[in-house]
Amino acid sequence: MNINIKRGGDDYFFNRLFSYLSSELEVEIKEMTQLRGNVYLVETVKTRFILKGYSDLRKLKIQQAFTSSLRKSGFDHSYRFYNQNKDPLQFHGSYYGLIEYIDHHEKRFDYGVHSDREKGVELLNGFHDHTSVLVPSYAGMLPKTDLPRKWTHRKNEFAKNLPRINYYVNKAITEELLEWADFSLANFVKLKGELENNAPTILHGDVAHHNFLRSKEGKLYLIDFDLISSGSPAFDMLQYANRILPFLDWQFESLKKINHLNKWLDSDAFLAGLLYPADILREWNRLLRNRTQTHPYSLAPIIEMTVGQFQQRKQFQEEVKSRLDY
Ligand SMILES: Nc1ncnc2c1ncn2[C@@H]1O[C@H](COP(=O)(O)OP(=O)(O)O)[C@@H](O)[C@H]1O
Ligand SMILES: [Mg+2]
Repeated sequence: MNINIKRGGDDYFFNRLFSYLSSELEVEIKEMTQLRGNVYLVETVKTRFILKGYSDLRKLKIQQAFTSSLRKSGFDHSYRFYNQNKDPLQFHGSYYGLIEYIDHHEKRFDYGVHSDREKGVELLNGFHDHTSVLVPSYAGMLPKTDLPRKWTHRKNEFAKNLPRINYYVNKAITEELLEWADFSLANFVKLKGELENNAPTILHGDVAHHNFLRSKEGKLYLIDFDLISSGSPAFDMLQYANRILPFLDWQFESLKKINHLNKWLDSDAFLAGLLYPADILREWNRLLRNRTQTHPYSLAPIIEMTVGQFQQRKQFQEEVKSRLDY
């Protein structure tokens, strides 16, 4: 009996992609593993590489050009694409790039680890130093960072999801979260001009822990430039702060000790941005998007972040607001 016959859906796509790749590449593929969405690890007899699909050719071309320019600028903490001059691999409406593989260390990058938080921000700052020279060539191709737009959109989606969120989180909390979001947005919009006086850089736009890779040799890499845009480096730093604050127990004092990030803490615009509950809103929206049922397993951490950390977050709001001078 051929069990493959029973397979459908994703397995079918996977097998077809595997065959396509085998016929296009000159080396024999031993194994292919899906890492996430459109990202695959491919092992040939000689080497390993990453295969990543993009919905249009322009996106792939920008990634290839940008990672090359980044390397030329002297930033060697990221990967490069192979075969850039060959015809693009095109399969089922997506365009695929082949990326240098970074073999990871058994200790993954973790925002919960003090030294990782410091190394991460150091790397991000180095990235900004190098990308400032790329702004003239890339700004025209890339969107300008527009945090108010993104945050307004996120807040509205959250507000629409409220009937379902309120099954798990009491209304007093969600109302307060929305007040934080409104206050932050109104002030950020009013003040963000002061951040834009700084020389623009290319921003990474997605400084989640899984976009930092520690190699087997212990070197830290920054990957995944799908969301690059141009703007003040403060905008990436705001995101970084929002990612690490849960591990700092929402202590403003701890932010002050973090190099590269602390230099923004005198800016009212930056402080206003810190008040936006970006993570909570993002996670609820992500959980409820396109889903009719939510699994308790994925709910627990989001409830923890919303309800469990609420008092700490409230104190953080008060602390930051008291520093805003009007
Ligand atoms: N060059 C690489 N070397 C090793 N692992 C990689 C590489 N590129 C991606 N990965 C792994 O695949 C995951 C998803 O890749 P990424 O490019 O970040 O895709 P996405 O846009 O879906 O976040 C990463 O978090 C990382 O674990
Ligand atoms: Mg990623």
